[in-house]
Amino acid sequence: MNNKHELIYEGKAKKVFSHDDINKVIIEFKDDATAFNALKKAKFEGKGKLNCLISARIFELLIKNNIPTHFIELKNENTMIAHKINVIPLEIVLRNTAYGSLCQQTTIKPGTTLAKPLIDIYLKNDQLNDPLITRDRIELINILSSEDLDLIIDLTLKINGIMKSFFKNIQLQLVDFKLEFGYDCKKNILLGDEISPDNCRLWDMNQKNDTIVSLDKDRFRNDLGGLIEAYSEINQRINDFI
Ligand code: TMP
Ligand code: ASP
Repeated sequence: MNNKHELIYEGKAKKVFSHDDINKVIIEFKDDATAFNALKKAKFEGKGKLNCLISARIFELLIKNNIPTHFIELKNENTMIAHKINVIPLEIVLRNTAYGSLCQQTTIKPGTTLAKPLIDIYLKNDQLNDPLITRDRIELINILSSEDLDLIIDLTLKINGIMKSFFKNIQLQLVDFKLEFGYDCKKNILLGDEISPDNCRLWDMNQKNDTIVSLDKDRFRNDLGGLIEAYSEINQRINDFI
């Protein structure tokens, strides 16, 4: 990155740099992977580039469908320009199929199709280990207004509809995903962060039996191997389709 672009934030998978325009930022996707609140760490050469390219394509799809996002354009293969947002410290998870923590914390069997999408909201706070949070607690700690929370939930459901049918076209089952939102300089709510196999569970639908083939970060979380191959497969299917 150019010297005049100052590092303003470094997360587990991305670095955020200032832009000449104070209302924009430059986001660089790193090759680092973490799981279980960074208890598990590794580096996968090429992951940053794949997640950046996949995210850019999905943001473009969402923008075409009138979803407000922070994405502006790709700068290069592992860097994008985005609107600067004040991130709302909530992680909005939407689940279509039961898996992961939902099955660890309830009696629902992994792989169960949910009758309607389930939205789980977590407080984005690494020190507290991102706890599941209730609507009343969100109100209590004054994170955002009830109207804005409704708006974010409504956007998440719309995003699910768009992404679910898009991924189905390329033979991928959208099991669940995590979103983050923020306020831009005009106080509009925009979808932020990334949309990639790091924060979406995607299962290959090209399976003859019921075997689950994860093409997402579960390959790292669950030591399945082949993470770069899986992410490359998703990127390839998206590019072949678009
Ligand atoms: P979970 O089943 O572990 O709660 O994960 C649900 C979805 O959210 C899954 O697609 C992975 C994603 N996720 C993140 O992007 N970041 C996180 O820190 C966690 C815990 C999950
Ligand atoms: N975001 C998690 C971490 O903090 C990883 C995960 O997606 O499970 O390491």
